[in-house]
Amino acid sequence: MPKESMGAFADYTVVPEGLLARMPATLDFAVAAGVPLAGLTALQALRDELQLRPGSRVFIPGGAGGVGTFAIQIARWLGAEVTTTASERGRALVERLGADVVIDYTSQRFEDHVRDMDGVFDLIGGDTLMKSFQVVKPGGKVVSIAGMPEPQTARQDLGGGFLLTALFWAVSYRLRAQAKKHGVTYRYLFMHPSGPELAELGGLIEEKKLEPVIDRVFPFADIADAFVHLESGHAKGKIVVQMPA
Ligand SMILES: NC(=O)c1ccc[n+]([C@@H]2O[C@H](COP(=O)([O-])OP(=O)(O)OC[C@H]3O[C@@H](n4cnc5c(N)ncnc54)[C@H](OP(=O)(O)O)[C@@H]3O)[C@@H](O)[C@H]2O)c1
Repeated sequence: MPKESMGAFADYTVVPEGLLARMPATLDFAVAAGVPLAGLTALQALRDELQLRPGSRVFIPGGAGGVGTFAIQIARWLGAEVTTTASERGRALVERLGADVVIDYTSQRFEDHVRDMDGVFDLIGGDTLMKSFQVVKPGGKVVSIAGMPEPQTARQDLGGGFLLTALFWAVSYRLRAQAKKHGVTYRYLFMHPSGPELAELGGLIEEKKLEPVIDRVFPFADIADAFVHLESGHAKGKIVVQMPA
């Protein structure tokens, strides 16, 4: 759905036709509901922004969550070698999805083990993002969906004007300075809905090249518990809220 309509749960909503795609025949509604936001975010970050191609080396901190489980699979589909972080709780999952190297973020410092990446797709933000710049080759790219937005986010993703661009310039100053120091570029991506790209993801799912991973499905009556679980930060895949039949 359009960004300005996000943020509510309802039985019905109005969505522009161009943002829709046919649901893969192999999925039910609950699983399909987990695909658009996380799947499109991963596709746009890895293919459009990082421009991964066969042989690229990508680091994806936070591979076991909602976006990470799509990102590992899509990066592998694009032909990239994937290094990710997960705790022991998520290791088996990220390995099954195709991660080549898994670093336990609870016991190891990834910056001691990862180097010469072509790109980073950061799902964690904070210190993890700050340290990500040092593991990328000069000329490489760091794309985050959990850090600070930068001027391009304002102009390209949000259609903002001078004020928003200036604000994002200021809040991303430290990150852009860190990127410059390491000779890499920094981009904060705000995903955009797209029917054609959603159809592409649907095709990959039907061809069994992409598996949506669902952590738990909560009935609408338990929506508060769903948010508590989400905020725990330990989901393995997507959390879905199902409306009453
Ligand atoms: N900009 C956009 O367009 C956009 C779109 C979608 C999402 N987002 C944002 O992207 C971020 C990721 O979303 P998500 O849905 O993937 O999150 P999520 O599903 O809540 O992620 C949970 C997973 O992250 C792991 N994790 C937590 N801390 C970690 C760390 N320090 N290092 C490595 N893994 C860690 C957890 O593993 P353990 O249980 O092992 O700790 C858990 O499996 C969120 O901040 C979300 O708001 C932005």
